Amino acid sequence: MSINRKNSAIGVFDSGLGGLTVVKELIHQLPSENIVYFGDTARVPYGTKSKETIIRFSQENTMVLLDYRVKMIVVACNSSSSYAISNLERTFNIPIIGVIGPGSQKAAENTKNGRVGVIATSATIASGKYDDTIRRIDKNIKVFSKACPMFVPLVEQGWIRKKVTEDIALEYLIELKNKNVDTLILGCTHYPLLKEVIQKVMGGKVSLIDSAETVAAQVRNILEKENITRTREEKPRHRFIVSDKPQNFKDIANTFLGYSIKDVILRK
Ligand code: DGL
Repeated sequence: MSINRKNSAIGVFDSGLGGLTVVKELIHQLPSENIVYFGDTARVPYGTKSKETIIRFSQENTMVLLDYRVKMIVVACNSSSSYAISNLERTFNIPIIGVIGPGSQKAAENTKNGRVGVIATSATIASGKYDDTIRRIDKNIKVFSKACPMFVPLVEQGWIRKKVTEDIALEYLIELKNKNVDTLILGCTHYPLLKEVIQKVMGGKVSLIDSAETVAAQVRNILEKENITRTREEKPRHRFIVSDKPQNFKDIANTFLGYSIKDVILRK
């Protein structure tokens, strides 16, 4: 593997801003790596769209990242990961990782009572991908799923600690709470920002699984296996590209990433 390939960026895409929760974890676990992030802000949300549309958008996003000669692709969007991974793997000759496998693995390892909850967008829940993946890991685990479509707009509105958010969370989650799950997968890029309120509703004993952490660990494994880990000393470059409203992305990015972004590139 050439030095250049090692120095190439990790490409990450999401339907919009939410995938920055995955970038945050990548930066934390792989501080030397260059990263190119593409947020498809012109077409967000994906979580309400059909399988065919999500696959097409995911292919187009991958092509955007390939223009930047990325060395691997991280599909940060759960909705894309649910429907498009095998299609992308067939189409593109580059390591591709989604968020469903790592999150499922972590949940299966964590549960003690064999009862796992999954919350996500309508598209992700409808795909049944988390259920299938967890059952393939351990067929004795019972999976209980619930779509929480109002969580994404609440997070984008910045309503993270509002009373109304807690009321909505209770409405969505009471079903899973009554199923006595001991592990809950946050199966959407935005949900880690609602951890506090979700934990409050579910109770302190339920473990919340944020797939961003496990994804970053798997990215590290892939880089090592492929021998494409960046070894250069210079500061890495993190580039952010969106398909619409770069200023809006810049304004909200801090909430997801924990620091402000100076430049956001617009690509139509
Ligand atoms: N990124 C999406 C996901 O993780 C959430 C936002 C959307 O619906 O596009 O499923």
